[in-house]
Amino acid sequence: MTKQRLSKKFWNPYLNKLSPYTPGEQPTMSNYIKLNTNENPLGPSTHVKNAILKVLKTNGTELRLYPEPESQSLKKVISQHYKVNNNQIFVGNGSDEVLAFCFQALLANRGNLAIPEITYSFYPSLAKLFAININLIKLSNDFSFNLNNLNSNVSSVLFANPNATTGISLNKIQIQQFLTKNPQILVIVDEAYVDFGAQSCISLIKKYKNILITRTFSKSRGLAGMRLGFAVGNHDLIHALNLVKNSFNTYPVDKLASAAGIASLKDKKWFDSNKQKIIRNREFLTRKLKTIGFEVLPSQANFILASHLKVSGTKIFSELKKNKIIVRHFNNPKIKNWVRISIGTKVQCEKLLKVLKSFII
Ligand SMILES: Cc1ncc(COP(=O)(O)O)c(C=O)c1O
Repeated sequence: MTKQRLSKKFWNPYLNKLSPYTPGEQPTMSNYIKLNTNENPLGPSTHVKNAILKVLKTNGTELRLYPEPESQSLKKVISQHYKVNNNQIFVGNGSDEVLAFCFQALLANRGNLAIPEITYSFYPSLAKLFAININLIKLSNDFSFNLNNLNSNVSSVLFANPNATTGISLNKIQIQQFLTKNPQILVIVDEAYVDFGAQSCISLIKKYKNILITRTFSKSRGLAGMRLGFAVGNHDLIHALNLVKNSFNTYPVDKLASAAGIASLKDKKWFDSNKQKIIRNREFLTRKLKTIGFEVLPSQANFILASHLKVSGTKIFSELKKNKIIVRHFNNPKIKNWVRISIGTKVQCEKLLKVLKSFII
């Protein structure tokens, strides 16, 4: 394909400063084992499909009408599930969008933002978009980070817990101590992966006004294709998010996504068993990788970060790809010798191990 020269004549000049996020590859062929974007290999609850069909059964008349602008039905179920009030919840089109609203409503024009030096790479892209200065929190040699290592001049902190790319998490007490000591700093905790074994901070929103938590239906609920996420926090913070949302897109959550989210939250049995299966597969894969010379970080997410003592990260990535297994390899010099592997089904984990052994041992 020839590269077309772009005319930037009509562009907002600020676009030249952006560094957009590059999502993991989404191959169109179905014969790949896709372990690169931390999706749920088991898919959503069957109740989700039934709920979507119910919306569609009206011959599309339901779709003729706009969805609820404030997503009240979905918020009601989320609030019951997480034991918070309706006005402590904000919902959006995936947690990426919820995060974008947070950047605009709560982080922009408020001073420096601290993020871990290795974390979800969407954060720096959003910071550029909203012209927010970033301070990096240094990671220790074991890839963990300590909130007490923050630079003194920050107004907000954002991190994923478990942290993206490493899978390592902070516990609730560590976060609570930070909130108590720093009531003037806003802390946003991205709990995209929390269901796979870490401690959630949702209950802290009752006591602390300086914490907001973001969540997604994409990982533990197997609904990445529906685009559904939410934030939980004190009413003042949620109100700020609504101000931006209602100045930008009044209907971020469509009727199918809302029905899917409600059905998923109501199917506790499916949720518990799905989560347990992924945790078991993660432990199995970690154990087996260690026996063939891998170092694997202690993950509480649905992925692991692994590095081999003798074979480079680039080679592992490309050899796996040749064998139709896609994992994620990052250019960041700190983790260039590592690959991030999403936890698949047991069969996928076994296939991965078989291919790894074919060129490693
Ligand atoms: C840490 C983290 N937060 C948020 C997201 C985005 O999730 P969503 O699909 O809800 O936009 C991801 C996606 O991979 C992620 O890794």
